[in-house]
Amino acid sequence: MSKIPIRKMPFEFPEKIDPFIFPDSPERSASVVATSLLLPYLEPYLIRTMKAARPHVTEPRLLDDLARFSAQEGQHYRMHMRFNDALRREHLPRLGEFEKEISDDYQRLTKTRSLQFNLAYAEGFEALTMNLVLFAFTHLSLFDEVETQVAQLYEWHLIEELEHRTVAFDIYDHVCGGYFYRVAAGTWAQRHYIGWVRRVARYILEELPSDDLSREAETARKREARELAWLALRRAAPMILRTYMPWYSPHKVAFSAEMQAVSDKYTEMAISTS
Ligand SMILES: [Fe+2]
Ligand SMILES: [Fe+2]
Repeated sequence: MSKIPIRKMPFEFPEKIDPFIFPDSPERSASVVATSLLLPYLEPYLIRTMKAARPHVTEPRLLDDLARFSAQEGQHYRMHMRFNDALRREHLPRLGEFEKEISDDYQRLTKTRSLQFNLAYAEGFEALTMNLVLFAFTHLSLFDEVETQVAQLYEWHLIEELEHRTVAFDIYDHVCGGYFYRVAAGTWAQRHYIGWVRRVARYILEELPSDDLSREAETARKREARELAWLALRRAAPMILRTYMPWYSPHKVAFSAEMQAVSDKYTEMAISTS
């Protein structure tokens, strides 16, 4: 089987989902949910970018990778749309306004920016997410406390991000190349993406004020947030920084036996795999 299998997943979600998927942590819930809300606009943008790059790709291996990357991303945003519909139904009435803005923003990038820029954006985003996924797999048990289908949606998505970690990098290199441009446009992409996540997360927190917490619970939550920030600074920041180095390559990132076990689990669970 290919290292980038295309799985069709059977996820179904309840009619309505409470956006506070981590009951004890509204901030973490809002950030994770905001990411999901961006994906039906961001991932089609990545697919459009790959489609534009395709005529410039001359290696059969890269053409296959490109097709598999796009197929995986296509499955991701479709599944996240189902999840988002369940979130939107009751709790987040103004979300449609954000979605229109996000959609317009990514359409604008496709229409007005060069292929090199859009490919560097794709790689900047992929490099960031791959390292956050590695950090999450290695240091956090992020989704242990989340309702099963939601946890599975994210875990399946995250493992596939690792499976296709080399594709945007290789296509950028093959079609355009240019280290300094990749880093400059890639860091712009990361700030752009994180800016959207923060904005939507703030809206979610405003729309759904959390219950008043006791002083002890509030203190514990702040302590947890500080510990997580410190862990991210020590562990995730160096991983992301290395992607800015001239010698960086996602080909050097190993796919561990534990990751393979997660990958196999979702192949098993899939309706079909090709
Ligand atoms: Fe994805
Ligand atoms: Fe991806």
